[in-house]
Amino acid sequence: MSTRKFRVGIIGGGGIAQAVHIPGWRNLPEAEIVGIADVSEATAKKAAEAAGGAQVFTDYRELLKLDLDAVDICTPNKIHTPAALAALTAGKHVLCEKPLAVSTAEVRQIGQLADKKKLNLMTAQHQRFTAPGRAVKAWVDGGNLGEVYHARVRAMRRAWLPPAPGFIDAKLAGGGPCMDIGVHALDLCLWLMGFPKPVRVSGTSKTNFAKGHDMPNRWGEWDRARYSVEDFAAGFVHFDNGATLVLEAAWMGHQKDDEELLAQLFGRKGGVSWPSGEFAAAPNAVLAQGTLALPEHVPHPHWHEIAAFHDCVVNGKPSPVPWTETINVIGILEAVYASSQQGGEITLKL
Ligand SMILES: NC(=O)c1ccc[n+]([C@@H]2O[C@H](COP(=O)([O-])OP(=O)(O)OC[C@H]3O[C@@H](n4cnc5c(N)ncnc54)[C@H](O)[C@@H]3O)[C@@H](O)[C@H]2O)c1
Repeated sequence: MSTRKFRVGIIGGGGIAQAVHIPGWRNLPEAEIVGIADVSEATAKKAAEAAGGAQVFTDYRELLKLDLDAVDICTPNKIHTPAALAALTAGKHVLCEKPLAVSTAEVRQIGQLADKKKLNLMTAQHQRFTAPGRAVKAWVDGGNLGEVYHARVRAMRRAWLPPAPGFIDAKLAGGGPCMDIGVHALDLCLWLMGFPKPVRVSGTSKTNFAKGHDMPNRWGEWDRARYSVEDFAAGFVHFDNGATLVLEAAWMGHQKDDEELLAQLFGRKGGVSWPSGEFAAAPNAVLAQGTLALPEHVPHPHWHEIAAFHDCVVNGKPSPVPWTETINVIGILEAVYASSQQGGEITLKL
């Protein structure tokens, strides 16, 4: 019996890699992290140590020369596309942090290359692997919603602006809260809706607080001169099946809650909210509501996401988060920005 383990290389060894991806891979006995590439050698070394002694690289092209089964990309958003294209070209399966890319053109380029090379490509949308994500999805798949005619998506923070350049510099991030946290709630909501095709989007994106000094930030100071993404965005989406969706995302704003992450679906038969699991319906014309029983606690949703990626690669299963779904998420976010810039409704052909 072969004792060869599933060999993983990580590109970008910073916050999310060290917090959840490295522990997630180490939690899989069948896998080993053999190399870490980070433009910061100190970060790569720290991550390699956390990975149990992986090789260190400052150029991911060198990492890709190793005998690897898969590459896990945890760099700032704008590096996702060149890193993913290079990894796929080198014949490696790819798990990539969200957003897979910051434009539909890039998502398509990465996805089509993965398809051509018959390699697995998964966007790391870990909210699908949380206890509420799974419970609400099971309820929806049980036919309890009926036809969905409207949804609300909120990713609204009061004063949690991530100060790292990878989030606030448009050249690295490609977008602000829309791309950072809006992407989580929107992916979750579209997944629950069964991914209808978005066809028209209007939106606005603004920087209300992040250029000034009148809002404190729970994560401390940030470089206002370098700040070049929105801190608030909102959009209205029409789908090909007639359904609509309202989207709101912000890192800063005057509201009571520190953070509200919400997907709320309205169907003809019932309605449901994620992550609360609250539902409403009217069986036999009697108003009824309740809260879904959630599994006790799903530890480390990122670990489950990594295990699901590993499973699909080794067992030849389809990607748990395929690019053909991700392109709808990015298409909506891209159109919110385009609509804000152009001042009109954007027609999508995804
Ligand atoms: N799923 C989640 O909950 C979640 C949470 C946080 C971040 N993220 C995503 O993870 C990604 C990374 O975020 P983070 O918080 O870890 O950021 P980070 O800044 O802590 O880490 C990013 C790392 O990438 C490195 N890097 C930059 N350019 C590189 C290149 N060309 N080659 C190799 N390494 C390079 C940086 O030096 C840094 O160490 C982002 O896309 C972000 O959206 C996801």
